[in-house]
Amino acid sequence: MNKKFYITTPIYYVNDKPHAGHAYTTLVADVLARFHRQKGDDTFFLTGTDEHGSKIAEAAERNNQTPQEFCDQVSGSFKTAWDKDHLGIAYDYFIRTTDPNHEQAVRDIFQKLLAAKTPAGNSVLYEGEYEGLYCTGCEKFLTEKELVNGLCPDHQRAPELLKEKNYFFRLADYLPAIEQKITSGELQVLPESKKNEALGFIKQNVPDFSVSRSSVKWGIDLPFAPGQVAYVWVDALSNYITALGYPKNSELMAKYWPADVQLMAQDISKFHTIYWPALLMALDLPLPKTMFIHGFFTIDGQKMSKTIGNVINPNDLVAQFGQDATRYLLLSQFPLGQEADLQASLFKDRYNNDLANGIGNLVSRTANMVESYLAGKKPTLKKSTLDSNVNLPELNQFLIYEYLLAVRSFIDQANKLIDEQKPWQLAKTDLKATENVLGQVIELITFIAQSLAPIMPTTSAKITKQFTSDIIKKEEPLFPRL
Ligand code: MSP
Repeated sequence: MNKKFYITTPIYYVNDKPHAGHAYTTLVADVLARFHRQKGDDTFFLTGTDEHGSKIAEAAERNNQTPQEFCDQVSGSFKTAWDKDHLGIAYDYFIRTTDPNHEQAVRDIFQKLLAAKTPAGNSVLYEGEYEGLYCTGCEKFLTEKELVNGLCPDHQRAPELLKEKNYFFRLADYLPAIEQKITSGELQVLPESKKNEALGFIKQNVPDFSVSRSSVKWGIDLPFAPGQVAYVWVDALSNYITALGYPKNSELMAKYWPADVQLMAQDISKFHTIYWPALLMALDLPLPKTMFIHGFFTIDGQKMSKTIGNVINPNDLVAQFGQDATRYLLLSQFPLGQEADLQASLFKDRYNNDLANGIGNLVSRTANMVESYLAGKKPTLKKSTLDSNVNLPELNQFLIYEYLLAVRSFIDQANKLIDEQKPWQLAKTDLKATENVLGQVIELITFIAQSLAPIMPTTSAKITKQFTSDIIKKEEPLFPRL
């Protein structure tokens, strides 16, 4: 039965250009969305950019631009990196937190929170004074414990001591319910290690958090709190529902909410597994079904950073390898969810081995043989030799890496069939047998192409077209050797 499928990526900060980390999460979402569309599910895939906060205002200033000009430009570079001439991300909606609709929706959300009561009968929001060490790099207050030599370990700068009057969210009243929902699996947090991590946050009693800021200027102003703007994380997390028109347009909300899969890396798991469910409960909305939290990968053993100079721009990969190969190279190195290292130094070898010599060679030698021995006529196959219960690991179980391994074994199987049956010899004596072998190979090739559709959509379509027409012709190599 067809279902609805709503999948989201984090919305990315515009103080940074798109890099391999953003590309990775977005690609995973794209693969899952394409897989569900292929199954006939009514799919909605959301991505976008997170554009408020001092960090972004600072970056704009360094660039001699107004924050809005700066956001327009960088948000545009994310859209470009995802477009059909680059990574080919088929999102359904791209949200920007500076969209007037989103901004108004966030104000409406605050009004709702202001009027809401917690399960214990307390007001959800209350006014308080906040004093803390704030890192504008992280857009969050840090605890003394998190500092390394007095510096924010992620940004290598000293946090500022900030004191301000804020609205606070009464998180304490929601922690027991969140714990129960995560433990029971009503909110499924995957993989298991990240579920345990989320439960660990709760055990440590995450304190109430402030949801407004007076120290920040570039943000959504709150009419009931003059001089204060929405805390960037409340603004950002809300995107997953404001993109569906919440609270005004209930049609898309009714259709797609709750999200089926929310993807992210572990850097932002606390915001998603604790703050986000609490906000949703306060708004009386159901929780997402599954959060999948993947690892934060390093590049060739080192943290990806501008200082080290190992930041990978996905556009450069596409320029070097092409769209589908880039998608393959990013998704095939390690299992989703594992602590991992992306070995950029292996890209070229893997391209040549897996793609040029693997699927690329299989397709070109097969078309070649059909042209030479069968005058291009598509061989008819008397009996299918594909095992009727071929089982690929399930993409909807987040097994993209395992799935690609399995597809590769089918490519090997097809190549082996050719090597063993030697159609070039058969063709001299037995045309029927040649036709049969090539028919079997083509059956495998079309199965492989079909299976690759969510991951390498263009290649999949090209191969399918080439081998389902009655006359099979040699085409340009899919993956020219580098
Ligand atoms: N704007 C917030 C998210 C708000 S969501 C309501 C944010 N933005 S971010 O630009 O820093 O993006 C973080 C996300 O980018 C990670 O959670 C992950 O999806 C992706 N990645 C960034 N670097 C990555 C790696 N090195 N490895 C894997 N994913 C990475 O946080």
